Amino acid sequence: MAQVSPVRTPANLTLGAPIPRGLKRGTYFVQTWGCQMNEEDSEQMVLGLESLGLTPAASPNEANVILLNTCSVRKKPEDKAFSFLGELRFIKEARPDLVIGVCGCMAQIRADEIHRRAPHVNFVVGTAQVNRIPGLVEEALQTRRFQKRLDLPERKGSVVTDVPDRLGGRKTKLKAFIPVQYGCDKFCTYCIVPSTRGRERSRPTEDIVREARGLVANGTREITLLGQTVNSYGKNLAEGRVSFGQLLSILGGIPGLERIRYTSPYPRDFKTDLIEVIRDVPQVMEHCHMPLQAGDDHLLRRMRRVYTVESYAAIVDELRATVPNLGLTTDIIVGFPGETEEEFEGTMAAMERFRFDGAFMFKYSPRPDTPAAEMKQVDSAVASRRLNQLIKRQREIQLEIGEALAGEEREVMVEGPSPKNPDVWQGYTRCFRMVHFSPGSLSPGQLVQVRLTEPHMWGFVGTVLG
Ligand code: SAH
Ligand code: SF4
Ligand code: F3S
Repeated sequence: MAQVSPVRTPANLTLGAPIPRGLKRGTYFVQTWGCQMNEEDSEQMVLGLESLGLTPAASPNEANVILLNTCSVRKKPEDKAFSFLGELRFIKEARPDLVIGVCGCMAQIRADEIHRRAPHVNFVVGTAQVNRIPGLVEEALQTRRFQKRLDLPERKGSVVTDVPDRLGGRKTKLKAFIPVQYGCDKFCTYCIVPSTRGRERSRPTEDIVREARGLVANGTREITLLGQTVNSYGKNLAEGRVSFGQLLSILGGIPGLERIRYTSPYPRDFKTDLIEVIRDVPQVMEHCHMPLQAGDDHLLRRMRRVYTVESYAAIVDELRATVPNLGLTTDIIVGFPGETEEEFEGTMAAMERFRFDGAFMFKYSPRPDTPAAEMKQVDSAVASRRLNQLIKRQREIQLEIGEALAGEEREVMVEGPSPKNPDVWQGYTRCFRMVHFSPGSLSPGQLVQVRLTEPHMWGFVGTVLG
């Protein structure tokens, strides 16, 4: 169970009731499922909890406040959250003053169900209300009343300015996330995210730049810009409209910022001007995670992905021709409703054609109240068989790519000891391959040239040069 790393108290989050000085307020535990957006939100939650004087607990058993930051993208993370809530019922019976809050995507769309199935939950907070959490915790420490805060921007084109100062008190992080674009207006027929995250909106450029500068001053060397369709950044900024490409250029001007990554771009909005910025701004890393989802045009149409295999291929060709040593990764769904054997073969053929450096591959999971959930479903065993076939082939392709790259030299940012073996250190190339190497006298944050020697599924073993 991963706990979000503890950070120091920010000076400027809105607090609930004033906290008497010197009073120890107890401990917290935050459990996170889902994507990087959720990981980043959890970090904000931790800042909020610490602003109340709470300190991290080693496990839920000891915590006075427990937050679950949930994900609804597939059924599995929802099941995990409900099963965790089931376990917490026993802790709450033993310690009735325990405060339990449910946040994130499942909280947004299933608040009433959560209250019904888990009446021991004190409050439910939606995805756009993270900064309400400190106040709700304060209230829950005093009253027993169930609370929910679910407001979500429904208006197209709103701008996100209510993000609390995300910097205050962050401990130094070599790599940090910065959300730049929230919500999604694409409404792919399988996807719950437009319901959980609301309408598409962007953060003002000056807020992003201020955060990036602050992070760099605090020791950050690499930032990852986050958004559900990150390259539609800026579309709805009324004043001083800045495109995603322009945002990358502006961030490239921050001294001391070594690397910039972004995830996930939507293929249709990946245009030549953006590809040129990626080529021309030296800090932008040669990694692009561009979800394809399926390799057949009929399937893509039923998914409401507004591109074709050929138009996706045109972007890939241009990217690879313009940006040398690009690492290209993707997301694929198999077993989408009505997927025929022939359509699935199209997806297999796309994997051969694009030879992705990595892929997240998912079995379709019907999400209530999405159009695809009403369509004719594929037999679950057939979908599993196809997923296994896809994963097996993609593994082989990745190993083939790795073998072809062995012997080459790449820049790696030294991060520190591998969590699995502290004698070996790790870092990433600019094309986002993990490399393990012997640390010698290196220190975290250094950029070194590394010869990639031995390829693995996850990356390489390498030798630091010079
Ligand atoms: N906004 C991103 C994707 C966010 S969700 C984008 O469009 O690029 C991350 C991935 O989960 C998706 O790319 C998709 O491959 C997968 N996914 C989304 N809904 C799913 C569902 N109902 N079943 C299985 N996989 C799903
Ligand atoms: Fe979901 Fe599609 Fe939006 Fe991505 S673009 S979040 S897959 S609706
Ligand atoms: Fe999950 Fe919400 Fe992210 S549904 S994938 S946590 S946007």
